[in-house]
Amino acid sequence: MHSEQPFAMDPTMPPHFDQQPLPPAWLHPTAIVDGDCTIGAGTKVWDNAHIRSGARIGRKCIIGEKSYLAYNVILGDLVKLNAAVYICAQVEIEDGVLIAAHTVFTNDRFPRACDPDLHDLATSAPTEATLWTRVKRGASIGANCTIGPGLTLGEFCMIGMGSVVTRNVPAHALLIGSPARIVGLVCRCGEPVLRGCNGTPPAGDYPCARCNRTVHFS
Ligand SMILES: CC(C)(COP(=O)(O)OP(=O)(O)OC[C@H]1O[C@@H](n2cnc3c(N)ncnc32)[C@H](O)[C@@H]1OP(=O)(O)O)[C@@H](O)C(=O)NCCC(=O)NCCS
Ligand SMILES: [Zn+2]
Repeated sequence: MHSEQPFAMDPTMPPHFDQQPLPPAWLHPTAIVDGDCTIGAGTKVWDNAHIRSGARIGRKCIIGEKSYLAYNVILGDLVKLNAAVYICAQVEIEDGVLIAAHTVFTNDRFPRACDPDLHDLATSAPTEATLWTRVKRGASIGANCTIGPGLTLGEFCMIGMGSVVTRNVPAHALLIGSPARIVGLVCRCGEPVLRGCNGTPPAGDYPCARCNRTVHFS
């Protein structure tokens, strides 16, 4: 494992983050970190987490107990994974994302264990059928969600607990259900700025009563 700082700082992050002296990454003794991973300073990896080779994890993240990060997964800075989060290969998670307990990512739309004649296992390495998923900065994914393959979850979106996400998610959208549907918009601070909509909300500026920011939805 290398303890490095693999990610360029996000210029919208508070300046104090850049100046903080961060301790080296900390690994619980039962965490398994395969070779050739990068884990940023200030990151904590909790018990029985497993990080496969090639993963790149930014600074000041929390990898919750029993979470699994597959080969070459990418996490930005300040990412918080609660317990038992499953992140498959070809998932990229930007800065400041929260992923709550027992959420599962997928990367293959029509998966099979074997070749068609059941002679041997199919490769576990990514193929042309393996799709990339990106979770943009500041997004929150509630507990026990399933994220379909090949999706982009927009900046500061919020996915309600137990959702099954099957379509791309616009920035700041609030989704619930299976399949997940847009029911509102949320501010960067997490406060709903629009509730009760059924599908894509009208374009416009939505002020936040909690922090006075404005969510611009287009
Ligand atoms: C989606 C969420 C943000 C909505 O919060 P809210 O706006 O306060 O929602 P309300 O409790 O007012 O519920 C509004 C309606 O949506 C329903 N609802 C709320 N969350 C839902 C969800 N995740 N899935 C399905 N329906 C949901 C409620 O039952 C209610 O329906 P009703 O009016 O028919 O009774 C919240 O319920 C949620 O899922 N938060 C994530 C929790 C989580 O996983 N945290 C992880 C860290 S601990
Ligand atoms: Zn706000």
